[in-house]
Amino acid sequence: MDYMNQICLPVAAEFDEFRSRYSSLFSCSNPAVDVLLKFLSRRNGKMMRPLLVLLVSKCYCQVPDSVYHLGAAVELLHQGSLIHDDVVDESEKRRGHRSANAAFDNRLAVLLGDYVVSMALQQITATAHVRCVQHISKLIGTLSEGEINQLNALDFDTLSEDVYFDIISKKTAILFSTCTELSAVLSGASGQEIEGFRQFGHVAGLCFQIMDDILDYHSSDETGKPSGNDMKEGKFTLPAIYALNSSGRDWSAHIKAIRSLSATPEQIKEVTDYTVSNGGIDYAVRKMDELKKQAIQGLPAFISTDLRTAFESYLELITNRAK
Ligand code: IPE
Ligand code: IPE
Ligand code: MG
Ligand code: MG
Repeated sequence: MDYMNQICLPVAAEFDEFRSRYSSLFSCSNPAVDVLLKFLSRRNGKMMRPLLVLLVSKCYCQVPDSVYHLGAAVELLHQGSLIHDDVVDESEKRRGHRSANAAFDNRLAVLLGDYVVSMALQQITATAHVRCVQHISKLIGTLSEGEINQLNALDFDTLSEDVYFDIISKKTAILFSTCTELSAVLSGASGQEIEGFRQFGHVAGLCFQIMDDILDYHSSDETGKPSGNDMKEGKFTLPAIYALNSSGRDWSAHIKAIRSLSATPEQIKEVTDYTVSNGGIDYAVRKMDELKKQAIQGLPAFISTDLRTAFESYLELITNRAK
């Protein structure tokens, strides 16, 4: 059985229910907005975050309504942040189709992203759980902070793994730890279990972004997004950070050129080829393997074999996916 089937097995009925509730959110009496929402609803992603929300809740009980609202809130926030991210990254492709900024324009994409964040806030409010509302309100700021820090890093002269991990914790991992932490809260978990699940989500989220950064080295046909976009945007991710930092050569001119967005395609190709042939990808894969072991340790001991297998498959899917 493949990883996705293993993940869905314990929550198959709940995932169907979630998808039907989620798709019903994408309509609006204002036709101008409705067109934009229909554009989004025809292009759903993998729904990795709501799946995580459902899996955690399923460890405890029949999944309550509030957990469905949480699942919708996190997927909507993810969706909103991708719409904005594609504007910031000037990226024309998303989920195998034109991104919102490419299909419409930057103005409509920014406004649509805001609209989707508003939908997310309505969903989290529907949980009627103050801790969840507070947490999500703060999370939105943290996601922006991650992207702001990433832009700010364009001014740095050196490559640092610590800076990289801080950025991906804020822009990506926190959304995963929010899924597990708040789902555990809404499902009646103990303080220690909530912390264990939070840790699992955080580490899974780090792996998720490391894999996304590896996939930037793969072809666009495979991933459904542009390939090699990170360095074109001035971004150095884990494979290149490791390969260049452990090289005897002085790469400072290339780093400066790439970060100031003035690098030639030849310079980018040189750094990319060097990264691949000098163990950058292998290093990132090893890092994910270490993190995966940590994530499993966070899981509470009481959960059933089916669910444990689903969480393990979740980590395997994240770190072995092609898109
Ligand atoms: C892509 O996330 C953006 C990152 C946080 C790396 P996903 O790969 O979950 O995107 P979709 O929702 O499946 O398209
Ligand atoms: C992740 O960063 C985006 C967010 C967390 C919003 P990327 O810029 O690498 O994501 P992709 O590759 O465009 O999906
Ligand atoms: Mg991007
Ligand atoms: Mg990426």
